[in-house]
Amino acid sequence: MRESPDPLTLLAWYDRHARLLPWRTPPAARTQGIQPDAYRVWLSEIMLQQTTVPAVKGYFERFTATWPTVHALAAADDSVVMAAWAGLGYYARARNLLKCARQVVQSFDGVFPADRDLLLTLPGIGPYTASAIASIAFDLPATVVDGNVERVMARVFDIHTPLPKAKGELTALAGSLTPTQRPGDYAQAVMDLGATVCTPRSPSCGLCPWSEACLGRARNTAVDLPKKIRKPSKPLRVGTVYIVRRSDGAWLLEQRPQTGLLGGMLGWPGTNWSESTPPDCPPIDADWTEVSTQVRHVFTHFQLHLAVRIADVAVNARPMRGTFIPDERFNPSDLPTVMRKAFTLSQADSP
Ligand code: ADE
Repeated sequence: MRESPDPLTLLAWYDRHARLLPWRTPPAARTQGIQPDAYRVWLSEIMLQQTTVPAVKGYFERFTATWPTVHALAAADDSVVMAAWAGLGYYARARNLLKCARQVVQSFDGVFPADRDLLLTLPGIGPYTASAIASIAFDLPATVVDGNVERVMARVFDIHTPLPKAKGELTALAGSLTPTQRPGDYAQAVMDLGATVCTPRSPSCGLCPWSEACLGRARNTAVDLPKKIRKPSKPLRVGTVYIVRRSDGAWLLEQRPQTGLLGGMLGWPGTNWSESTPPDCPPIDADWTEVSTQVRHVFTHFQLHLAVRIADVAVNARPMRGTFIPDERFNPSDLPTVMRKAFTLSQADSP
């Protein structure tokens, strides 16, 4: 009978091959008794939800330089945090980040609880993130299952049930391997294995510490796993944004409502986004020029094509909505990606 994959073999591999990540306490440091900072673990896990490691690194470094502790973040101004988050997407995460920081300060004296059930009571912390913090920050034997872990489990155990149906089965298998020794390093080791060796399209089975035990490798099915049910394509929505420049250089912007898509973020005034062309709603009387290309952007539940209209207005022009922001206070990197794309197109197209 084939042996089951050995968590200790994976830990030995991790000791030699762990990725150096700005939020990570390397295995050697941990062995010497250096504990990870739960604030940094939490922040990284929230940032990494739906986002890749390369995209997160710079944001993580800027956030921890500006707000080195949960107390500092809890005391920050909402709009400054939202601007620092701009470009990472899924902006509800940033609103919950602030709520969570404030709750940790208020209810737990600024100390993240070393208890998965208590972590689950905090805003923005669901089952995955609670397990990740419990194991990585506090070395508790919680099982962490992200996309990487699902792929590794599906291959090692040769599971052909398609995702998302297979989630329960893959979680149970992942749980069956989670060791009581070094569960925090183990959680990160499986993630690293999935990210660097057991990759989606061309796994490097020759480098894998679990290759002997891997059923998918033995049966030559690994590359095709995990199976997935094809998702229906995303519906298309359309809309228009209006980019207005005043003669003194100021830009007409508005803060989006706190709830809903891009909630609380800064953006260009615009129409609703809908499946049939929404009625025009220019925020000011002006002569509009439409930019020759449209913004294309993909959200979780739909794709968006956005027309961009630009206009110059006089210094005494009065908008129906939005606020003029002086040029020296306008920073395109404070905008969410879709709004930044509109700005970039308007600059490329303006005479
Ligand atoms: N993806 C999600 N959490 C991660 C972590 N702690 N390390 C690497 N990749 C991750």
